[in-house]
Amino acid sequence: CLQNGDTFLHRCVGTNVVAAQVKASRKEETEDGRKSLNAVQVERQEQAERSVLISCHSRTNERKFLKYFSRHGDINKYFFYESYGMYAVVEFASQEGVASLLEGAAIPSIDYESVVPFKSRSFSLRNLGLAESPNQQSGKLCQPQTTIPINELIKKLSKEQSIDQQITSLTEAYQLTEENIRLRFLVCSLLKDIAAAYFPECTIRPFGSSVNGFGKLGCDLDMFLDLDGISGRNMAKSGLSLEYQMKRATSERAVTQSILSVIGECVDQFGPGCVGVQKILNARCPLVRFAHQPSGFQCDLTANNRVAMKSTELLYLYGVLDPRVRCLVFTVRCWARAHGITSSIPGAWITNFSLTVMVLFFLQRRSSPVIPTLDHLKELAGPADKSVIEGNDCTFVSDFSKIQVQSNEETLEQLLCGFFEFYATFPFSRMSINIRKGKEQNKPEMNPLHIQNPFETSLNVSKNVNTTQLERFVALCQESSWLLQQSDTTTPSASSQGDTPVPWGLATLLLPSQVAGIKGRKKKKREPASEMIKSLLESLKNKNPQNNS
Ligand code: GTP
Ligand code: MG
Repeated sequence: CLQNGDTFLHRCVGTNVVAAQVKASRKEETEDGRKSLNAVQVERQEQAERSVLISCHSRTNERKFLKYFSRHGDINKYFFYESYGMYAVVEFASQEGVASLLEGAAIPSIDYESVVPFKSRSFSLRNLGLAESPNQQSGKLCQPQTTIPINELIKKLSKEQSIDQQITSLTEAYQLTEENIRLRFLVCSLLKDIAAAYFPECTIRPFGSSVNGFGKLGCDLDMFLDLDGISGRNMAKSGLSLEYQMKRATSERAVTQSILSVIGECVDQFGPGCVGVQKILNARCPLVRFAHQPSGFQCDLTANNRVAMKSTELLYLYGVLDPRVRCLVFTVRCWARAHGITSSIPGAWITNFSLTVMVLFFLQRRSSPVIPTLDHLKELAGPADKSVIEGNDCTFVSDFSKIQVQSNEETLEQLLCGFFEFYATFPFSRMSINIRKGKEQNKPEMNPLHIQNPFETSLNVSKNVNTTQLERFVALCQESSWLLQQSDTTTPSASSQGDTPVPWGLATLLLPSQVAGIKGRKKKKREPASEMIKSLLESLKNKNPQNNS
């Protein structure tokens, strides 16, 4: 199946599928240029199909590099980045450029080792026999693929002149860059080439924070192996007709597990740069996890995961409706990470997804709502939007222009304060967070935190969260809400422009917490700043006696 000719043929078939999708997606753009997630995905996938990944020497001369690649075809875009060495992404203007490169590349001959002769679009650029000429620009050329460290962010924010500017600045510093997004789609496309050996009509699409608008540089790459494009003819009503002989399995889940097991094996055995492959097939949502070294991405590959794709689409839509949504989500996610409310390790922590839903719910609960409820988005849906996945109604409007602009004009600062106040006093013990209704509902079960899954409504997306973690979240909301009411926090310090500006505003909220007794904090506690914080601490202690360790 992995013979070179076949692989190339598969790639061409896949490209035709994408080309047809590009055509169909053109109309999915509103007059003001906002595109549906589907349209964005199709356009990016098509770009990725024309792109290649090059491992190169850190002193590669950019001019020679360009000259070499231009010989194979016109180049639309290229960029360099670092990840366990220096890499470049080159996007050709057409498929012919990639074909020419594949044609002209050599198979490595390595002493004492052998290679799997799978020709992928990941190459190494060799410069044999010629001395590398130092490229003075190479350091500057590299596009960052990770965020700035938190202490640098705090410094950066402290130089801003308003909390609104700080929130915008944080969003700009953390959000995915154009190059990082291209790299994400390219990795999906490279993996598609592997999966296409078995399923030529498949696509691999990113979902989750890589595409929902809330992704931070360095976030994982969630991918979905989409086999829906595989189609056959309908059976003829009479006379002779053919049907495929296909292997049968006991359930959809069993099919998903077997496909992921085989593709996972191929990724492990044949995928250049794919390391640490783990098949986690018994999870609620089976997946293959691995690291893609050339991009530095931690990858999760799933299949048959359409509901997650729908929730990605919904989050994307909310982010596009009002720019304040993304800013607030970035800020709250960053704040939560700085205080260890969220973690990269699975456990009883609140996840980024749950936190995002909490922000959306808060924005629906303003006296003048910033965003509409999911039920309202469902009412606006047209016949083409109808979507029922495994019995779950996932219908909501896809045409942004049908959604009325809300009249709320609060500033980002007001909304951030509002968020902390809202959750500092939310009746978590009795009520559930529900973005479908945009209103808290009675809790159907006794987990400390209940956030209704927007599409699989009988499920709780925060089932994993324990009492300690919820209490830490509430205590930090109380503290941040209090801090944002203090004039010395909310006024830029006079010396805000120096090398070590005094933290103020949002920067203060990212500093280690002053709330005593919050479990899990190893940092030295600082003296309470004033009588008011003392009384705040007292109230927290009385509320959470078990936290006073
Ligand atoms: P980060 O990776 O933390 O940046 O955020 P993420 O939104 O990508 O979260 P994650 O990688 O954990 O999950 C990827 C996507 O799967 C999310 O965006 C959701 O669409 C979906 N998802 C994650 N957790 C849940 C859950 O508990 N329930 C449901 N229904 N979907 C989830
Ligand atoms: Mg993710």
